[in-house]
Amino acid sequence: MSKNNTILSGIQPTGKLHFGRYFGAVENWKRLQEDYDCLYMVVNYHAMTMPFTGKKLAEESWNLCFNLMACGIKPENIFIQSLVPEHTELNWILNCFTSYGQLTRMTQFKDKSSRNEELGDQGFISGGLFTYPVLQAADILIYKAGIVPVGKDQEQHLELSRNIAQRFNNFAGKEFFPIPEGLYTKVKKVMSTADPNRKMSASLGDKHNIDVFADEKRIRKQIGSAVTDSGTGADAGAMSVGVANLFSLLEASGRADAHASLLLDYEAGSLKYADLKHEVANGLVAISSEIRENLEELKKDRKAVKNQIKQSSFEIRKRAQATLKEVKDICGLMNVRM
Ligand code: TRP
Repeated sequence: MSKNNTILSGIQPTGKLHFGRYFGAVENWKRLQEDYDCLYMVVNYHAMTMPFTGKKLAEESWNLCFNLMACGIKPENIFIQSLVPEHTELNWILNCFTSYGQLTRMTQFKDKSSRNEELGDQGFISGGLFTYPVLQAADILIYKAGIVPVGKDQEQHLELSRNIAQRFNNFAGKEFFPIPEGLYTKVKKVMSTADPNRKMSASLGDKHNIDVFADEKRIRKQIGSAVTDSGTGADAGAMSVGVANLFSLLEASGRADAHASLLLDYEAGSLKYADLKHEVANGLVAISSEIRENLEELKKDRKAVKNQIKQSSFEIRKRAQATLKEVKDICGLMNVRM
């Protein structure tokens, strides 16, 4: 563990913050702050690759900053991508170090370009959606970040970033960019409580995710109606996916004692699902109420919070400017005097 190693990650300002994203990403980000130099970015440029409106994009970008702070991410580690426009300039340069063939193999592009049609944008698929992984490489490399905490779904994008860094380093004739490593969270995938065969997700609809900012009543109701048995008989003898998901939520919410004792009940065949659900709800409610209180506090002076994020973006921008200048020198591109 070292403060010398820079961590960078990005989160899209679309959709709400549910427990899947909280346990899968944000909570980990919070922990990493203790040991590393961390940069966490609200990726508003990336959010333009799917159907969007200007008003909503602005609103959701700010909301996400507030939400991240409420979850315990330090304001000095948070920034908004468009407040560091150097990302887009490096994006252009890195385009020229990206293999077209490799870009055509990105599976997320294939998934999302088919969903665009569903989302009602008349089948419009932008070039931005196609080249988005190069912007992601620029996001990482502009800070010479060595560690990138992301979900498994980002593995292919990260591999592309590594290849771009290598190709640039060969061109530069030196180890200019560190080759970034992915840090994949150990937390088990959080599944939807309404359909534990699917990942908890905002796009599946309200019953398929539990909002971190939901009130106690809502959380208890959602956990109360969680599916425990699939009813297909497929799980005979083994723990059903629904029950396993409740156990992992209990573990993720830090209730180690309750987790251990309920697991003993399960093994003895005496577990009551109602008890398990009660404990899971207690765990989630405890996390949620603390975060909600933090958010209320932050909302009292919205302007001050926004200024804090603008300030941190301003400070972080200086680091991006320094790398971009070096890259332009290496490429023989004239620099604007700073
Ligand atoms: N593409 C990532 C996602 O959809 C978000 C992202 C953008 C990102 N830039 C990044 C993640 C840089 C890690 C590093 O979740």
